[in-house]
Amino acid sequence: MNLADLRLDYRRGELRRADLLADPIAQFGRWMDDAVAAGVVEPTAMSLATAGRDGVPRVRTVLLKGLSDAGFVFYTNFESRKGRALAENHFASLLFPWLAMERQVLVTGRVERVGDDEAARYFASRPRDSRLGAWTSGQSQPVASRETLEAELARVKERFGAQEGEVPLPPFWGGYRVRPETVEFWQGRASRLHDRFEYTCAASGGWTLERLAP
Ligand SMILES: Cc1cc2nc3c(=O)[nH]c(=O)nc-3n(C[C@H](O)[C@H](O)[C@H](O)COP(=O)(O)O)c2cc1C
Repeated sequence: MNLADLRLDYRRGELRRADLLADPIAQFGRWMDDAVAAGVVEPTAMSLATAGRDGVPRVRTVLLKGLSDAGFVFYTNFESRKGRALAENHFASLLFPWLAMERQVLVTGRVERVGDDEAARYFASRPRDSRLGAWTSGQSQPVASRETLEAELARVKERFGAQEGEVPLPPFWGGYRVRPETVEFWQGRASRLHDRFEYTCAASGGWTLERLAP
């Protein structure tokens, strides 16, 4: 197989300035609704890029769990690689790859932790096994074997009770909010002449909007 021969022409849609709302979060909400309605697999999955003090970018998938005018929220382990990178460099980038719709959305911004109350509310809404899993995983640390992980889960279940009982928010786990500074909406077009519009947060607090060359 020659990878270079795998080629699609994008013809599902187009994006004009007149289609876009003044506010990028509202526009994002509209595109998220489209992605859900179109049956995109894991529409809330987003690639999160960070770079710590060493300047080496790293990307991984996380799930969008909150959206408001303040930004995009995801949850994770603060001591993971991404958590350590974000402690060193508060800037991050998000990518929503809605390829079935020939769309992507790119966000850049500054990251802050969400408040403990908000994180505790979200944590309490997770299935019990996921809550136990958060206590089990020293995310991003080397682990000797699958058996080691399962033995740790058994210890956590014993600690918090196998069936019932409170599973509190781990002190090393919670949410981050990406406060957007730029948001780009990308729609694939024929002959690689794609439509791109980027919102940039103005010093005055509003948003400017520019078309970018594909
Ligand atoms: C579809 C999908 C969703 C994921 N969602 C999350 C998430 O919300 N939070 C999280 O910490 N990891 C999530 N992961 C795992 C991360 O991609 C990653 O492996 C993990 O967070 C460790 O990353 P790090 O070592 O760069 O910190 C998800 C992975 C996939 C494929």
